[in-house]
Amino acid sequence: MLDLFGDPSPGSPRLLAEGAWLLPGFATGPGRALLTAIGTVAGHTPFRQMETPGGGRMSVAMTSCGHLGWLTDRSGYRYGVVDPVTGQPWPTMPLILAELAARAAGAAGYPGFQPDSCLINRYAPGTRMGLHQDRDEADMAHPIVSVSLGLPAIFLFGGRTRTGPVQRVPLHHGDIVVWGGPSRRFYHGVAPVAAGEHPLAGPFRYNLTFRRAG
Ligand code: SIN
Ligand code: FE2
Repeated sequence: MLDLFGDPSPGSPRLLAEGAWLLPGFATGPGRALLTAIGTVAGHTPFRQMETPGGGRMSVAMTSCGHLGWLTDRSGYRYGVVDPVTGQPWPTMPLILAELAARAAGAAGYPGFQPDSCLINRYAPGTRMGLHQDRDEADMAHPIVSVSLGLPAIFLFGGRTRTGPVQRVPLHHGDIVVWGGPSRRFYHGVAPVAAGEHPLAGPFRYNLTFRRAG
């Protein structure tokens, strides 16, 4: 029987913090097309495990599309217009990605979002992303739109400081998290991804992080 007064349906947006929303299943419909777009981008500009300023390697493999790509190496974190691996500009952001990001931002209360950067993260089982802030962007007035595809993961969503309480938010294929405004600089990360096989993405979790970087 339909329970109108029980838990919200899986599709209901959930407020995580002021300015931060989980949009469950927002990208499930186009999931297959999004994964195809990721494959096309990676065909031009391959996934790579970048070096950190401290000399280690990111466990997550990354590539980018859009005008600006996020980079890390011995000289630090930054955005660049050229992929250092190919020596070419990053591939144009596929329209299906840019439109999805704009729609999700709008649904979370950030109309008119026009990302110029899409970082594509690929998590193999066991890989994780430590708590960090996204703070390499020129103008913090724009939100972050973060799309999850493939294997599930636990998103760690903290607050203004690295040491404060952290929410553990399960993310599934097609879920989107948008944060901005008062939570734009909130610490966040991803717990180690458990092994599995996703019908569309195989043994990986993919994340698309859309930003207005320049
Ligand atoms: C990130 O913060 O860069 C990635 C977040 C995620 O993979 O969900
Ligand atoms: Fe981030």
